[in-house]
Amino acid sequence: MKVVIGCDHAGLDLKKEIIDSLTKDQHEVIDCGTYTSESVDYPDIAEGLALKVLDEKILGILICGTGIGVAIAANKIPGIRAALCQNNYGARLAREHNDANILAIGSRITAAAMAIEIVNTFLNTGFQAGRHLRRVEKINMLEKKCRERG
Ligand code: RB5
Repeated sequence: MKVVIGCDHAGLDLKKEIIDSLTKDQHEVIDCGTYTSESVDYPDIAEGLALKVLDEKILGILICGTGIGVAIAANKIPGIRAALCQNNYGARLAREHNDANILAIGSRITAAAMAIEIVNTFLNTGFQAGRHLRRVEKINMLEKKCRERG
């Protein structure tokens, strides 16, 4: 599977571990930064990754210290459904119920081994549609209403 991953400076080490694991599992990984430990602003990283998710119609993984900042920023972009997950149950339901297209993880909250499990669950779970489709469509309608409100 092709997936895109990005992090701020706080998520750099965890990103490297996740990339290693994904590469071992034969996934094609696009790394959209950051690439050094120099401080960067997480909204910039979230923006670049979210646009890649939308353009390529692939799943994305975003990492910052808590996962909160990148999730908030990514969710400002229409079409993005970013879910901050701290366990496998949340990761599974984020895909099955919410059709989340970005997984957000906090490197200061979630240990690497757990984060890798969460990533695998997220990538290996599909959207269940059915009653959940109506709800996701309502999220899309919310975006449309806000755009029209100006
Ligand atoms: C950076 O120190 C930190 O604020 C950032 O990684 C993130 O946790 C923000 O939500």
